[in-house]
Amino acid sequence: MKSIPLPPTTHRPQPYSGPSAEKVLALRREFLNPGLFLYYKKPIMIVEGKMQYVWDETGKRYLDGLGGIVTVSVGHCHPHVVAAANRQNETLQHSTTIYLQPNIALYAEKLAAKMPGDLKVCYFVNSGSEANDLALLMARLYTGNYDFVALRNAYHGGNASGMSVTAHSTWKFNTPHSFGVHHAIAPYPYRGHFGYDDPDAGRKYAEDVKSLIDYATPGKVAGFIAESIQGVGGFVVFPDGYLKHAYEHVRAAGGVCIADEVQTGFGRTGTHFWGFETQGVIPDIVTLAKGIGNGAPLAAVVTTAKIAAVMSQKVHFNTFGGNPVVSAIGHAVLEVIERENLQANSLKLGAHILAGLEKLKAKHKVIGDVRGKGLMLGIEFVKDRATKQPGKEECAQAVENARELGLLLGKGGLWGQTIRFAPPMCITEGDANFLLDVLDEAIGNVG
Ligand SMILES: Cc1ncc(COP(=O)(O)O)c(C=O)c1O
Repeated sequence: MKSIPLPPTTHRPQPYSGPSAEKVLALRREFLNPGLFLYYKKPIMIVEGKMQYVWDETGKRYLDGLGGIVTVSVGHCHPHVVAAANRQNETLQHSTTIYLQPNIALYAEKLAAKMPGDLKVCYFVNSGSEANDLALLMARLYTGNYDFVALRNAYHGGNASGMSVTAHSTWKFNTPHSFGVHHAIAPYPYRGHFGYDDPDAGRKYAEDVKSLIDYATPGKVAGFIAESIQGVGGFVVFPDGYLKHAYEHVRAAGGVCIADEVQTGFGRTGTHFWGFETQGVIPDIVTLAKGIGNGAPLAAVVTTAKIAAVMSQKVHFNTFGGNPVVSAIGHAVLEVIERENLQANSLKLGAHILAGLEKLKAKHKVIGDVRGKGLMLGIEFVKDRATKQPGKEECAQAVENARELGLLLGKGGLWGQTIRFAPPMCITEGDANFLLDVLDEAIGNVG
């Protein structure tokens, strides 16, 4: 493969003096969960990050095309975020909601101001799985119903309730966890019954939500949960109108609608701050994680005062949720997104990259579909464009090739057939062109 120069950077990584990658791998094999997986044949060890770039222990630099895992929203070690964390770390690291604390209150006010409608009450937790668990609880308490409709090809977390609404066999352990959960057909235009050429696809896919409610539930449901663009599922963008119609069916059956914004929030989709806004809906409950903290363990549930009131039936407590340090970080992340116009950058560079991906699709037969919004872009591989047989090996090879060329990418989809590009939103046009050149070379060398 021909090498492609990364755009220049002024950042110089510190010399690395820690244990070797071999040693870390051996320790991990002995002392960490054997169910963990590694991305590359030769595991990569990241030891430093600055904005959109990361370095391995040898000093090799990479463009972080996956942003952690769609988590580093404003840039690795962004100076404004680091300064906010450092200030708070030196003042008070820990306090809980049993005392008053300024950071959590000021942060909740700022986060709520970003939400439309009556979505004004925030509840802070530590992970996306926890946020979804709490959202499901609130929906069930509020409606008095139990059944939930989720989507096939969804990912909502690795705890028991997250697993229940997730619909990829890859992530579901063989234990009882999905009682009362029903998975509707994924509104997946590339692979589903209604394709990109069907202007009414959104409404038609949503009919399955209605059908599930009518056939598989008591006719009343607690709610519906969906990612605004399916993340782990391979950046599947729903046809226009899908959520609007699905929400109508769910609300008619007494349920509330949860938008899982764990990957799509904070301006990543470019046109809107929240992914659900791209579908023209306002959910009843929104769950947030990943990009909210730019890598810090921060997550949230935002809902209306009316729904939140059900939580006062009992005491509900979370030791670390919204602690002073992560609240300072979350606040700083919002400030950076605003000051540096990162949503507009996502829109501009996302459009530029998508146009480039269309050209790559025309050139490389292994690409079956390119799609996405803003800086959340997917490239789905197939062995054959007519049969759409998933190109799992082709995708894996392209990702390996790109790593050699200095680009880290994600994989998604049930078969691992889709490249996911979701970098920190601070990337430049130079990075975007680097990405396109590397993809051309990496995909050209597949097979
Ligand atoms: C859409 C979505 N929801 C929820 C989660 C779970 O978040 P966490 O891993 O922080 O528990 C993820 C994680 O990948 C996700 O992508």
